[in-house]
Amino acid sequence: MCGLVGYIGKNNAKDILLSSLELLEYRGYDSSGIAIRINDSIVTYKDIGRVSHLRSIIKNNIYSNIGIGHTRWATHGSVNRINAHPHSSFDGRFTLVHNGVIENYLELKMMYLSDVDFISSTDSEVIVNLLSYFIRKCSIEEALRKLISVLKGSFALVIFDRDNMDRLYVIKNKTPLLIGKGNDEIMVSSDALAFINSIDSYICLDDMEYAILCKNSVKVFDSRGNIILHNEIKNDTNKEEISKGDYPYYMLKEIEEIPSCIERIRNKYIYEGCITIDESLLNEIRDSDIIYVASCGTSYYASLYFKYIMEKEYKKKVDVLIASEYIYSFEAIGRNPFIIVVSQSGETQDVISFVSKCKEKGLRTLCITNTRYSTLERECDYSLSLEARKEVAVASTKAYVNEVVLFYFLEKAIMNDINRVVVDIDELLISVKDVISRNKEIDNIVKQIVSKDHLYYVGRELGYYGSLEAALKLKEISYIHAEGLSSSELKHGSIALIDSSFPTIALIDNMIDELLVRSNLQEIKSRDGMTFVITYSPFYKDGDSLSLKLVDSSLRIIPLVVVSQYIAYKCALLKGNDIDKPRNLAKSVTVL
Ligand code: G6P
Repeated sequence: MCGLVGYIGKNNAKDILLSSLELLEYRGYDSSGIAIRINDSIVTYKDIGRVSHLRSIIKNNIYSNIGIGHTRWATHGSVNRINAHPHSSFDGRFTLVHNGVIENYLELKMMYLSDVDFISSTDSEVIVNLLSYFIRKCSIEEALRKLISVLKGSFALVIFDRDNMDRLYVIKNKTPLLIGKGNDEIMVSSDALAFINSIDSYICLDDMEYAILCKNSVKVFDSRGNIILHNEIKNDTNKEEISKGDYPYYMLKEIEEIPSCIERIRNKYIYEGCITIDESLLNEIRDSDIIYVASCGTSYYASLYFKYIMEKEYKKKVDVLIASEYIYSFEAIGRNPFIIVVSQSGETQDVISFVSKCKEKGLRTLCITNTRYSTLERECDYSLSLEARKEVAVASTKAYVNEVVLFYFLEKAIMNDINRVVVDIDELLISVKDVISRNKEIDNIVKQIVSKDHLYYVGRELGYYGSLEAALKLKEISYIHAEGLSSSELKHGSIALIDSSFPTIALIDNMIDELLVRSNLQEIKSRDGMTFVITYSPFYKDGDSLSLKLVDSSLRIIPLVVVSQYIAYKCALLKGNDIDKPRNLAKSVTVL
């Protein structure tokens, strides 16, 4: 949530900040702003709306070699110009951008700043004023350390000092902050993505560290003022990966990249017919008596797939947790539990806090993520990468698919059952490519549901888990209220809502469940409900909406979900919604 950047160097800070903020908009996009040095002043430009709007209100001929920028996802204070970042202190000395939430900001305001007139409703304005308050009695370094010691919560800060306009100060706790080094330039960002144009390598600050940045030097300190050295990471973000190419939206591009993502993850984990997952990790999982998987959103729905296959095929108990629900109350049952967390971004604060809780208890952890060097990757004992490459659209598509495929590999490796792996993946690829090539056939369903206010996705077992993800996708970008249900559960309450204006889409994935789901659909039809069936060719019946090429393994959940991704995309397109940046959402949720 919220993207921040800072720049010092030989190029025009205004241009670098604006183009970096555009790349970080996936983290929040309700308002944006920059503060740059112009002659001997710090000048701030900010407004509600996207970075493209910010660009339009800043004159072209402005030049500056240092500045900070922010794109916001509102937490404290509504979306308006005053609450947009950057914020300045009462005396104008400091100006900052902040990502995170200060939990004790009201307490700090009362304790230190009772005579300050605040302009905004944000917690961030408290931080910048505190710094101006502390600096009255000490050096800047002491003031930064004092600030770290009093703030509670999550904060990545980039601070501009009117009395020393050749440097920036940064502080990090519980939300990412990277410092990039280029040729005669230094950048700070929430994500390496912002470094794509000029930065060769970067470092990741750890919690409670601060740094002083000048054009040619970066000094990092811990909260006691000791110098810290970090290993440099090569910046290998690839421009092509984040280009939309000829696609109108990232989401469509990312759906259509799914076959290449599956091939990439197959090439990473399958070598000469074997699955190449660290044997010590597999043994730890085998030796555990229960596995907990914690995640959020789409990653949570992918985690349910793992529970299904592990319990059905390996007969091991897997509990899937919504990470945020267990941050304070997690009590692992069992003598030897093993923890898996799944997060596309690797930065979801709910999951990070859950991992901290597990570490306090001495539990062993595996992180499955699409983001190398992310906080979760660094915090966990083991990590497995999703190989889906950067996912830009807020609604997750290709990362979900690779989460499922990775879980499939993990389960097969744990079971030492590799006989069908290559065949299963080939079959999956054929089926997904077929969905992509025939996606126009989905338009018929879309036309009939796009104007509806509500919709159920139903299925059983894997079809049910697929329905949960399908419903989330539809809500996220088309704003049609949708629920995923086990079809058998309809009669226990939800069928009360069914009438001619309430459609139901069934995902039928196997012969055993087919009869039951179809009989549940009859119950809907008897109440004038409109029904659609998406299924595989062997189970296809006259009147069904779509017949898919058979996938004869648990991976059959994937083509069904890919169809639902298209349904969500096409509905959102017809409604004229902002598909890649749906309202109220952000891709990386770095607050609790
Ligand atoms: C946000 C995004 C969702 C995503 C969820 C979990 O809510 O809007 O699309 O599924 O975070 O993200 P993660 O990066 O942890 O998988």
